[in-house]
Amino acid sequence: MDEIRKIILDCDPGHDDAIALALAGKGKGLELLGIGVEAGNQTLGKTGRNALSLVEYLGLDVPVALGADRPIKRSPLTCPEIHGETGLDGFPFKEIERKFDERDAITMMKDLLLANDKVTLVPTGPLTNIGLLLQTYPEVKPHIEKIVLMGGSMGMGNVTPAAEFNILCDPEAADIVFSSGLPIYMLGLDVTRKALVTPKVIKKMKKVKNKAAKLFVTLMQVYNENQFKTFGLKGGPLHDPATIVALLNKDVFTFKKMNVSIDTSGGPSYGRTNCDISSFLGLPANAYVATDIDRKLFFKTVKKTLERYSK
Ligand code: RIB
Ligand code: CA
Repeated sequence: MDEIRKIILDCDPGHDDAIALALAGKGKGLELLGIGVEAGNQTLGKTGRNALSLVEYLGLDVPVALGADRPIKRSPLTCPEIHGETGLDGFPFKEIERKFDERDAITMMKDLLLANDKVTLVPTGPLTNIGLLLQTYPEVKPHIEKIVLMGGSMGMGNVTPAAEFNILCDPEAADIVFSSGLPIYMLGLDVTRKALVTPKVIKKMKKVKNKAAKLFVTLMQVYNENQFKTFGLKGGPLHDPATIVALLNKDVFTFKKMNVSIDTSGGPSYGRTNCDISSFLGLPANAYVATDIDRKLFFKTVKKTLERYSK
């Protein structure tokens, strides 16, 4: 029997966060200990409500706790052009009955980590919660096996030419995380932009008759429209689910260890992940960066995992 991998998801739902959450909730061999939420795609009030709606709709018995409502230093960013005014436009969730965990996200994650060993942190939003967790409770570090995050880019950004949204939302927090010495696996735009939800993918997902697939199809139709309007893409990139897929199937992504530094200068490259793939600077490698993706296997893994929902 394969060992169960304990994970904590930290997110800013967000259409692609929603699919990552659905995969995390039923992924083969995964135990989702808890979900932290922060401001990012939308304000915390909206991302928090979206996370609660998702766990309730999917029937996941997992605590959801509210974290940071703003970055450590810079002014907040949001992304309504992609995720809409609610942060999760397009799905008719019912009135929420589920309640938030009474702890804030950082306290909840600290408690979960001190009570468990070999936990994988899975951030799919700005790194504010994780940065504050490591800064406030350094004693949790021995309980963290690795951090598998969606963020950054070896190449172009998606908010500025230099920076990807999650990192640019809080470069100072990202710097804390990438300087932590913990094993980091970075799923950046270089690979997630190849995981486009094309009409062919949606057609295949429509054949899965359960609530998770209905969530996927409904959310992706809105997400795709917004991605086309904003970036001219023929399908929405499944950014955040790349983290969970990387945990579910080691053959989907190719990683290369390298030094990654975060630009916190505040200039035109603010929030850039400088990925030194050729080790020009001779600095110690501190992250495994995804350099390639088996797109077919990626979507096969997504579909197989969503099929695990009973109804
Ligand atoms: O750049 C992509 C990231 O920004 C994803 O996490 C998406 O949800 C948005 O937060
Ligand atoms: Ca996100």
